[in-house]
Amino acid sequence: MTEIIDGKLVAEDVVATVKGLTADLVGKGHAAPGLAVVIVGEDPASQVYVASKSKKAKECGFLSVQHTLPADTSEADLLKLIADLNADKSIDGILVQLPLPGHIDSGKVIQTIAPEKDVDGFHFVNVGKLGTGELETAFVPCTPAGSMILIERVRGKDLSGLNAVVVGRSNIVGKPMANLLLAANCTVTIAHSRTKDLPALARTADILVAAVGRPEMVKGDWVKPGATVIDVGINRIPAPEKGEGKSRLVGDVAFNEAAKNAGAITPVPGGVGPMTIALLMANTLVSAYLKAGLKRPTF
Ligand code: GUN
Repeated sequence: MTEIIDGKLVAEDVVATVKGLTADLVGKGHAAPGLAVVIVGEDPASQVYVASKSKKAKECGFLSVQHTLPADTSEADLLKLIADLNADKSIDGILVQLPLPGHIDSGKVIQTIAPEKDVDGFHFVNVGKLGTGELETAFVPCTPAGSMILIERVRGKDLSGLNAVVVGRSNIVGKPMANLLLAANCTVTIAHSRTKDLPALARTADILVAAVGRPEMVKGDWVKPGATVIDVGINRIPAPEKGEGKSRLVGDVAFNEAAKNAGAITPVPGGVGPMTIALLMANTLVSAYLKAGLKRPTF
């Protein structure tokens, strides 16, 4: 039987651990972890994501601060806000929601966040730590970190001898995912739009991660029998069968076909998605523990 990996359940488990460790931290006389979420502009999808991040932070017992800035905010003003948040002792994590408006240099903004508050794991210091295996002090981007927890629940922590194929080479998901799998002893291949015979390569994967942003691109016959399939994609497509103008969410994997071959597979929605927010909470908690000089919690 194929296991449908319940990301919602695992995310609830992670959040319950975060809540417990937050209560422990406060019980020891430390301040609650503080998360600042910054959004520039009115993109409706980003507004929804940011609102759910702020809400989850409150639910965890964190200090939750949201800065909603107008779309015409200058880069200088945004950099000043980040400098203020870097200096603010009540803030342990800073997240600037991407994408930013075109007139702002996202790279510059990300590199201005203090590495020890970079709970997105996008700063060069954290990217370098992950790349060199310094996982004890690194912040790892939330989506790959959450995907890794799902993989570990199926396969255990040591993935020695397993072939992993990551489809997608983004800085936010594909590259950090490959590094995490490598750190867990997988043999890793990163595939992308220029890869030759992608279906054949995908069929070599014991662990197949799809992170390309193309609806249902990974077909059932790309999946090796028994493989663990992690679908990072969240794509909205028209669903005329539900009524005129309706839409539905699908992943980068053709779920029904792939589930016939997979040993375990994440659904969309309800797979990787809920893990991303849970890991943002976990990273913020870790930041607060490290600031307090306490042992880094693991998830
Ligand atoms: N936009 C979409 N995903 C993310 C994310 O993980 N972090 C940030 N900061 N922005 C995003």
